[in-house]
Amino acid sequence: MATSNAPGKVYLFGEHAVVYGEPAVPCAIERRATVTVETREDSRLRVSAQDLSLDGFTVEYDGTTAGQPEVDVTEELVEAAMGYVDGAIEQARDAADEPTAGFDVTVESSIPLGAGLGSSAAVVVATIDAAARALGVTLDREELADRAYQVEYEVQAGQASRADTFCSTMGGAVRVEDDDCQTLSSPDLPFIIGYDGGAGDTGALVSGVRALKSEYDFAADTVESIGDLVEQGLETLEDGDIEELGRLMDFNHGLLAALGVSSRSLDSMVWAAREAGATGAKLTGAGGGGCIVALDETDATETALNYSPACEESFRARLDTDGVRREE
Ligand code: PMV
Repeated sequence: MATSNAPGKVYLFGEHAVVYGEPAVPCAIERRATVTVETREDSRLRVSAQDLSLDGFTVEYDGTTAGQPEVDVTEELVEAAMGYVDGAIEQARDAADEPTAGFDVTVESSIPLGAGLGSSAAVVVATIDAAARALGVTLDREELADRAYQVEYEVQAGQASRADTFCSTMGGAVRVEDDDCQTLSSPDLPFIIGYDGGAGDTGALVSGVRALKSEYDFAADTVESIGDLVEQGLETLEDGDIEELGRLMDFNHGLLAALGVSSRSLDSMVWAAREAGATGAKLTGAGGGGCIVALDETDATETALNYSPACEESFRARLDTDGVRREE
């Protein structure tokens, strides 16, 4: 038996612009997915998902029958979750050169699903790591991050960046620019997350920015400005200047809003955070709904978000400097 866990993430800077080759800075947060794997006598795969922010479910299958398992959640969710776990198990089998190994897999996660906090990447990283170890192979982190990226790439039909999987594997703040991924040193960042309970459609939002950019020069300039701001943010991280980081987050949110990817609920949460005294606040991820991230050492922002009608859930999740962790 082997258990591994891996963190979710927020974007400190650079979402959307990263699609056009600009750098971005995702940061791991103290919210984790934990995966326990036991090998089986046969080559079947049994997956139980509990304590997810949606209903848990259990699915047993051998990967060869087309029959849909009987479970009490939407088919879409099961297919998505099974796709990630299935892909992760394939990677572990490949790494250990044991193509027919069977497993019981238990997934627990405190990362809200589909909210842009990197829950699927965390599950994939932890599953590959635990399943490979259950077969006697401990992967180095570079290989683990790369295998996790391959899974997201396949499940998301080529629409995945390395940001989530690299960040979840390595932990801390990272810099991602196309295939170039680096870990960064960073001060402790007191993140507060506000979640509106919804999610934007990432594909539609990315297409919307692409269309705007081809039609309006200001949008192309805005994407470049986000890239410049990220470079400034990288220097600021190195200096450890939290006040200035917050200011740059505010600017980044404004630039994302100019690209049309904010929403009423995201803007409301951003303003609730700022009015409560947050050092800075911005949407994180694709936008259109979902989450904002703010910096605040005090409890004021979390409290203000809890009272904000736009916010369904808010919580503190500091920068997590640990990536994948091996429990047993
Ligand atoms: O919502 P998330 O965490 O999947 O982030 C999307 C980030 C984008 O830059 C909008 C798209 C991408 O693939 O980088």
